[in-house]
Amino acid sequence: MKKIIALALVLVMVLSLAACGSSGSSNDVKTYKVGVAIYQYNDNFMTLYRQEIENYFKTLETDTVKYEITMVDGKNDMGEQTNQIDTFITQKMDVIICNLVQTSSAEVIIDKVVAAGIPLVLINREPLGDNGDESYPGIINNDKVCYVGADARQSGTYQGEIVLALDNKGDINGDGVVSYVMVVGDPENPDAQYRTEYSVKALTDAGVQVKELVKNVGNWDQTKGQEIVAAALAQYGDEIEVVFCNNDGMALGAAAAIQAAGRTVGQDIYLLGVDALDECQEMVQKGTMTGTVLNDHIGQSHTAVDVAVKALNGEPMDNYYWVDYVKVDASYFG
Ligand code: GAL
Repeated sequence: MKKIIALALVLVMVLSLAACGSSGSSNDVKTYKVGVAIYQYNDNFMTLYRQEIENYFKTLETDTVKYEITMVDGKNDMGEQTNQIDTFITQKMDVIICNLVQTSSAEVIIDKVVAAGIPLVLINREPLGDNGDESYPGIINNDKVCYVGADARQSGTYQGEIVLALDNKGDINGDGVVSYVMVVGDPENPDAQYRTEYSVKALTDAGVQVKELVKNVGNWDQTKGQEIVAAALAQYGDEIEVVFCNNDGMALGAAAAIQAAGRTVGQDIYLLGVDALDECQEMVQKGTMTGTVLNDHIGQSHTAVDVAVKALNGEPMDNYYWVDYVKVDASYFG
């Protein structure tokens, strides 16, 4: 009898061990470590973007594949971000997604991540050379590094085209010249450089004469946008016909300044932004903003994650992935 009980016990133990080894055990789940470095959390557009990175990774999880995301705030400080990347390397991340604080530091970051054998997906800020106007064909040249972004020239051109589509082509006072204020995001950032240049270029290419009254740096920030435009309105008053802002955050500030100065968008002044934040889309629909350009954070974040997953699966990446902008003016809403 004792023998039978002992045998039964052994059998139970063997069976339960076997059950442990089958599906559901942690051994069957592959967890990838993903490091995401954002230039600054305090940024309207990048907040939408980073939240979508997390959401989308979640949707790709299965019973056997998980993504452990460590996301960090660079606080607009390149030194801080470099330390964060060093920590990611020490933590042996399986892939790193990085929104550079300074594009001029691209080479340093790329070199160290590549040396650590970790795939790198750069997002939102296109890495430029030290002279500030050339892509880095020599640096993004292996299949473990890529850039996912939108061509900022297109967004600038769309801003200009929205003005050109107006009956008076932006020339409210009929003096033959479009007098404008330019609110610049960040002079080191290619998005800001290209939007500044191409918005005006669209007008001049179409034969429209322009006059720049004020050009000032607002660092993508709503309060700074408001200050710049309030000062410009105080100085130039009715002379200002168009306010170009490199992003919607600053355009929201500009809108407040325009209202405070007793001016009316669509009647005696035009206001343009980029990003198509929800509140700005509503303003365009209501006519309190002339136009904006959709900076597709869904398309960009999904592409960045899809490419990161490709790299995790050992597949080569292309060096560049581009996502289109979309023009948003009154006609966009039908
Ligand atoms: C731009 C965006 C801005 C700001 C910037 C940060 O693409 O339009 O609002 O988020 O990126 O680099």
